[in-house]
Amino acid sequence: MKILVTYKSKTGFTKKYAKWIAEELGCEAKDIKTITPKNVAEYDLIIHGGWIFGGIISGYNKIKSFAPKQLIVFGVGFTPKAKVDLKKMAEENKLGDTSLYYFEGGTNPPKMGLIGRKVVEMVTKEKVAYQDNTDRKATAELLKAIKALK
Ligand SMILES: Cc1cc2nc3c(=O)[nH]c(=O)nc-3n(C[C@H](O)[C@H](O)[C@H](O)COP(=O)(O)O)c2cc1C
Repeated sequence: MKILVTYKSKTGFTKKYAKWIAEELGCEAKDIKTITPKNVAEYDLIIHGGWIFGGIISGYNKIKSFAPKQLIVFGVGFTPKAKVDLKKMAEENKLGDTSLYYFEGGTNPPKMGLIGRKVVEMVTKEKVAYQDNTDRKATAELLKAIKALK
């Protein structure tokens, strides 16, 4: 089965997960910016990871519009996993029956940009500090599901 991992990452946390997943599956991880519908057509499965912006999984609409044969999505945000309602997230992002996973990312103030920092400070009511909650082990469930497909 030919698999490609695509990602949209502003500050690097989603990219980190994409690289980990690709490494485990022995495939490539590519920035969605570099992907065309023609590339997507070459693969049996696309695993897309997007950083979450106001509940929206970035890059999902783009990858979906490229009509992948099979698509699995993961979202990366700063919300603790225990507080995430995956069903609600799937509905808000109009994922239909596309499988969705959620991984904890972090915050990296210098890379977030001034507006990004201000928006997060408005929402959290705290000064945004560097935090990395990424965990390679969190990908185990997704990897297990993919290995079952192979
Ligand atoms: C403007 C803005 C909006 C965000 N909205 C959400 C959100 O709705 N839910 C969430 O869990 N995280 C949210 N985040 C946090 C990012 O998703 C988080 O920092 C993520 O790890 C960034 O991934 P990246 O490093 O791949 O860009 C937001 C961050 C910014 C800057």
